[in-house]
Amino acid sequence: MSKITAAITGVAGYVPDYVLTNKELETMVDTNDEWILSRTGIKERRILKGEGKGTSHIAVPAVLELLKKTNTKAEEVELLICATTTPDMVFPATANLITAEVGAVNAFGYDLQAACSGFLYALATASKFIESGQYKKVIVVGADKMSSIIDYTDRATCIIFGDGGGAVMLEPNTEGYGILDSVLKSDGTGAQFLHMKAGGSRKPASIETVQAREHFAYQEGQQVFKFAVKGMADVSAEVMERNHLTAEDVAWLVPHQANKRIIDATANRMGVGSDKVMLNIERYGNTTSGTIPLCLWEYEKQLKKGDNLILAAFGGGFTWGAIYVKWAYDPK
Ligand SMILES: CC(C)(COP(=O)(O)OP(=O)(O)OC[C@H]1O[C@@H](n2cnc3c(N)ncnc32)[C@H](O)[C@@H]1OP(=O)(O)O)[C@@H](O)C(=O)NCCC(=O)NCCS
Repeated sequence: MSKITAAITGVAGYVPDYVLTNKELETMVDTNDEWILSRTGIKERRILKGEGKGTSHIAVPAVLELLKKTNTKAEEVELLICATTTPDMVFPATANLITAEVGAVNAFGYDLQAACSGFLYALATASKFIESGQYKKVIVVGADKMSSIIDYTDRATCIIFGDGGGAVMLEPNTEGYGILDSVLKSDGTGAQFLHMKAGGSRKPASIETVQAREHFAYQEGQQVFKFAVKGMADVSAEVMERNHLTAEDVAWLVPHQANKRIIDATANRMGVGSDKVMLNIERYGNTTSGTIPLCLWEYEKQLKKGDNLILAAFGGGFTWGAIYVKWAYDPK
């Protein structure tokens, strides 16, 4: 019997309407459009506005679009994994809120947290459920409402992050398409450079933690930058090497959208030209778990069956990784 692989058979995305421009940020913190654009490549990002709205409100429209595009009934979905760092609540899992909202009554769901590498970790995990033959319809969501943990008085972080997300459908394939390899890494010694100080079990919320603004993302940008440049480039090169892929063999690099300079460094290391690099950081900034599915969604029409894609990410933890995907369908 031929080997079962997990093919991506559809992709969908969602970004909220509100556009937070660099110009508007200039009115909030001491920064300017030229600095932000030259240091990060970001011009604007989306923000989910509205009382009581969380990450599931980004994920649900993406999943509904995905079900429609893939002609899938919600009841057919067997598993939904949601990669997020900004769950609606500490518990229950956002995946459960999503499955309930879309009517995926036969699916079980859980969240996976690996900061900006979350989508890749979730994709690799989900692919194993397909490869084992246990499930035939699995949805992987990557979504974050980063504005819920960003301090809009901290210019080191508020310029970078935005809200958004996407989802992919995974189904079995026996012709060699889909997720073919993954290199995933983590190193907890990097936690000190990118984390949220309070709100977890070490330091539950209190008046003091709120007053000290400890419920926001804390980042030492230069340290993160240094590790990210090396980490993302290393794993991308590694996944190419072990699958005997040359730069010519790679149709697309699908990089986590953290900083244009980190993306350029990864593409350079792989020897891949900028015309093969998916990019939307200019419009969305860093949506954490959302960046890679949002790229796939926006570039879907340019993807052809048989294209070799390298998905690469780096994030808090530190976590990083690269996944080799052979695209399974032509534009519909
Ligand atoms: C955050 C980041 C954009 C900062 O860029 P940088 O080139 O490292 O900038 P530095 O922190 O060295 O600061 C350079 C100068 O700009 C200033 N500066 C910092 N933020 C600024 C802002 N938003 N606007 C204007 N000036 C700013 C600094 O105060 C510093 O001034 P000084 O030279 O007078 O001391 C960059 O470090 C980065 O992208 N890091 C990785 C972040 C990331 O990817 N995080 C997500 C995890 S995947």
